Amino acid sequence: MRLDKCIADHSTHSRKEVRELLRRGSVRVNGAPEKDPARQVDPDRDQVMLLGVILPTASHRTYMLHKPAGCISSTRSGSTKTVVEFLPPQLQKGVFPAGRLDIDTEGMLLLTTDGDLAHRILSPRRHIPKYYLVQLARPVVEKTVETFENGAVLEDGTRCLPARVAPLPGVENLALLELHEGKFHQVKRMFAAVENHVEHLARVQMGGLPIDVKLGRGEYMLLLHKDIEQLFKTPDFSEVLDFCACFFCSYWINE
Ligand code: URA
Repeated sequence: MRLDKCIADHSTHSRKEVRELLRRGSVRVNGAPEKDPARQVDPDRDQVMLLGVILPTASHRTYMLHKPAGCISSTRSGSTKTVVEFLPPQLQKGVFPAGRLDIDTEGMLLLTTDGDLAHRILSPRRHIPKYYLVQLARPVVEKTVETFENGAVLEDGTRCLPARVAPLPGVENLALLELHEGKFHQVKRMFAAVENHVEHLARVQMGGLPIDVKLGRGEYMLLLHKDIEQLFKTPDFSEVLDFCACFFCSYWINE
């Protein structure tokens, strides 16, 4: 598709205004200045920026939300705020959460208009690893690490897939947990199975895509094609641990 048409279709500017904006150097494609209205772009893959703002050109939109505690992972509005309601009203249409976090869980949640993407993210066959920062009542002991590695058995007899857990250095009872599945209240039930208790919980990464540390609680950002590709990569556990040690050690301090 031509660049001038793509911008006109995804902004409030006419084709004529777009050509003037291009001439003035107000447009970047994939980060580089672009003045040619006839330049071909793929709205699903290329990033088009107008006056410093990325245009949502893709046929589907996916957002990363830093979910705060106290809101529900649903589209249905009742007395409790939904995660979708963190988007401005004009962006909410057709958006739903790709997965769930409990009302008191914080951190990374994806909101999307793309049913196929949501299916790929949630499909148990794909095993996209999810990383949780967990503030516990008691320390993670060696026995917990072993139990999780062998597959914890929940109170109803369900055996979990092997999971990795490690304490975060420097903060008492703070740990990182890697899961490859998403059973109901899984993190809380796994720690209950080893006689510990989850006091605070936040998801900090999905696959190779970490939460953007610039997002405050309740803030969101549009994801680009390259971010979505990261979701399907498997990171090194030690890298995620370093990331958490750098940015999340004080997440619940002064709460
Ligand atoms: N496990 C839980 O217990 N709660 C969540 O919100 C996510 C995973």
